[in-house]
Amino acid sequence: MKLLKRIIFDLRKKSKKLIIIFTLISSLLTSADHLLALSQSEGEKLFIQHCSGCHVNGGNIIRRGKSLKISSLKRNGLDDPEKIAKVARLGIGSMSGYEEYLGKGGDQIVANWIWEQAQKAWIQG
Ligand code: HEC
Repeated sequence: MKLLKRIIFDLRKKSKKLIIIFTLISSLLTSADHLLALSQSEGEKLFIQHCSGCHVNGGNIIRRGKSLKISSLKRNGLDDPEKIAKVARLGIGSMSGYEEYLGKGGDQIVANWIWEQAQKAWIQG
């Protein structure tokens, strides 16, 4: 009897610990989601502010063959967020760089967002 009580008590203690661990993990996951959502909207904000003037909906109003669509990025060897970030920072051909406007890490944030949109064919949602 004593042993049984002891086992039940131990189990209760363990399950309390488990519940605490689960709560911790789920709150961590929620905040990671939150951070991701934040950086996505940050990317979108940067894009609207600094890029969409010429690249509305991922196109290119000046040079049609140099859009941000996946086929164009691939053709021009820019199908990777690191390379897009470099273009955002330093420019390319007749496009000037936006390093000074994008803020610290902004080049990568906007590039990640562009890369994601390119993979979704620039269809929102
Ligand atoms: C004033 C107009 C203008 C703005 C603003 C602009 N771009 Fe561009 N972008 C261009 C032009 C023009 C080209 C083609 C340059 C060339 O090859 O001569 C280009 C090309 C690119 C390319 C290469 C696309 C391809 O398929 O080869 C990328 C990537 C790019 N821009 C990213 C950006 C990002 C990121 C921003 C915002 C930070 C931005 N651009 C803002 C005009 C602009």
